Order: sequence, then structure tokens, then C-alpha cells
Amino acid sequence: MNATMIIFSFIRAVHPPCYRNAGLLLITPEYNNGIPGVFKNAIDWFTQPPEERMGVFAGKPVGLIGATPGTFGTAFSQYAWLPVLRVLGTQVWSGRLLWVSGAMGKFDDQGNLTDDGVKRQLVKYMAGFTEFVRRMKVF
Ligand SMILES: Cc1cc2nc3c(=O)[nH]c(=O)nc-3n(C[C@H](O)[C@H](O)[C@H](O)COP(=O)(O)O)c2cc1C
Repeated sequence: MNATMIIFSFIRAVHPPCYRNAGLLLITPEYNNGIPGVFKNAIDWFTQPPEERMGVFAGKPVGLIGATPGTFGTAFSQYAWLPVLRVLGTQVWSGRLLWVSGAMGKFDDQGNLTDDGVKRQLVKYMAGFTEFVRRMKVF
């Protein structure tokens, strides 16, 4: 089995949950004002083989949030995702934005969110996104 076949086996193994999920929440970092290559590559693998691509993404409600130690809260990478999500036929929820900057001071050593302001924003984001997913009724 070569490397490509191993990767395809993995993708097939994780495909079923992707089909079943009613919505998809992307939580993106930002590299050089763009999408981190590894994250983009993972999504690219989910679009293979091409005939299965629409089953995973078409019509799927997608939320997009991110956190960074930097200043602009992953705004640039979130905008860089939009053309990708569009060509995949997803429905991006645009009811709220969640850009978390200065993340080093907002999570503890175990990665738990400790910032009350961001917690409130996250609760509002998830409430709105969940309602959007319900309205879309993909499944
Ligand atoms: C190559 C590289 C480029 C980065 N560029 C940005 C950037 O443009 N904007 C930003 O806010 N953070 C940037 N960062 C910080 C990442 O957002 C931060 O490292 C990330 O949240 C942690 O994920 P990681 O462990 O995968 O690096 C960059 C980090 C790396 C390694």
C-alpha cells in the first residue's frame, strides 16, 4: 500500500461522520495572513475523490471562528477561507464574527477558555450558528 492509498483509507474511515454532521464549524489559526497549509490540505483531502466531494460539503452550514496570539484575531485567514467554502458549495453563516486576538492571555495552560468576554461571545456565536443549522435542515 503506498502513501496515497493509506491517506485515502484514512479519509474513507472518517468520511461517514462528515456525511452525518448537520453542520461544520471551522476553527482556524492564521499563518502569514492566510490559511495554514496543513488545515487547507486536510479540507482538500476531504474533497477526494471528486464524485464524493459534494456529499461532504454541498449545502452544509459552516461556521468560521479563530483565535491567535496575534492582534487581528484570525480575521485575514477567516476571509481567506471564504472563496474555498464557496467553491465547495457550503452555506457560510455570517450572522456573527468571532475573532479572538491575544489568545495567550485568554486560555489557561490546559487550553481552557478563561476570558469572560470571549466566553459570552462564543455562547452567542454558538446559539446563532445552531439556529442557522436547524433552519437549513440539511439532514
Ligand atoms: C509560520 C507562522 C505564521 C504565522 N502567521 C500569523 C499571522 O499572520 N497572524 C497571526 O495572527 N498569527 C500568526 N501566527 C501565529 C499562529 O496563529 C499561532 O502560532 C497559532 O495559533 C498556533 O498554532 P500552531 O501551534 O499550529 O502554530 C503564525 C505562526 C506561524 C508558525
